[in-house]
Amino acid sequence: MRYRNFLRRELDTIVPNDLMLPSGYHLVGHVALVNLDSNSMKYASLIGEKTLEYDKRILSVAVRTGPTKNVTRLPSYVLVAGSNNTVTTHIEGGVKFRLDPLRLTFSGGNKRERMRLRKVVKDGEKIVDMFSCVGQFALHIAKSVDVDVTAIEINEDAFQFLLENIRLNGLEKRVTARLGDCREVYPKSTANRVIMGYLHDTIEYLPFALETLVKNGGTIYMHMNSPESKLKSVMMKIEHTCKNHGYFSTIHTRRVKNYSPGIEHYVFDITTMTEA
Ligand SMILES: C[S@@+](CC[C@H](N)C(=O)[O-])C[C@H]1O[C@@H](n2cnc3c(N)ncnc32)[C@H](O)[C@@H]1O
Repeated sequence: MRYRNFLRRELDTIVPNDLMLPSGYHLVGHVALVNLDSNSMKYASLIGEKTLEYDKRILSVAVRTGPTKNVTRLPSYVLVAGSNNTVTTHIEGGVKFRLDPLRLTFSGGNKRERMRLRKVVKDGEKIVDMFSCVGQFALHIAKSVDVDVTAIEINEDAFQFLLENIRLNGLEKRVTARLGDCREVYPKSTANRVIMGYLHDTIEYLPFALETLVKNGGTIYMHMNSPESKLKSVMMKIEHTCKNHGYFSTIHTRRVKNYSPGIEHYVFDITTMTEA
């Protein structure tokens, strides 16, 4: 039975008939993350208890209380049912990720991108993941290809999970973690590919990604939020920034997902060359 129908049946005599019950949840390890509208908030604990009954994999239920905040992308959730131990192991494509989804974001919407990069990266390449978090891109790549990945993360909390996840997946020989701002601690002129998995004004970090690439060029995967109407100007700015660093570029753009009303999450595959 579908989740919303299950809740409707279970809460039939308790909540108003016209209450907008959630249609789903985002499951990270044993933690279910639920979005409720303002009218449903006062029933959050009840909905949480029923959610535990609906799916036996779920041991904790949290509801969203506000937007994700600041550069470290701190989520706003409150636990409403189940275990208050929300540190969990999330397994995706054979890779294990330890994290607390109440303190760090793990986007389900980027899964296709993570799987895609696993396939395009080649043995022997050097990769820099500038916004690593708990290793979402870095570990997927290192798990499937014999590469040398530098994973950079500014948030100490995420960084500690990143270190744990490198060990948990036995990837110590392939992944090196650096704590700090990727504009300061990036390796220079070494990478064949650079991953920029961050959505907010990511283009401002592009000069540092370009300096990370090997001198004769490579590929940058730049994620960024933008309205569709501004895509052309973003692409012009990318081209211009590459030119300032001595590179010609070809750009391939894909929409990853809707981010918020009128704002889309795009990824720009930027291939740079020293000659046209
Ligand atoms: C939303 S997470 C994205 C994780 C992963 N790259 C993905 O796309 O699924 C963005 C991460 O970038 C980190 N971050 C933000 N600014 C940074 C900076 N200047 N240098 C290094 N890491 C940064 C944040 O702390 C956060 O963990």
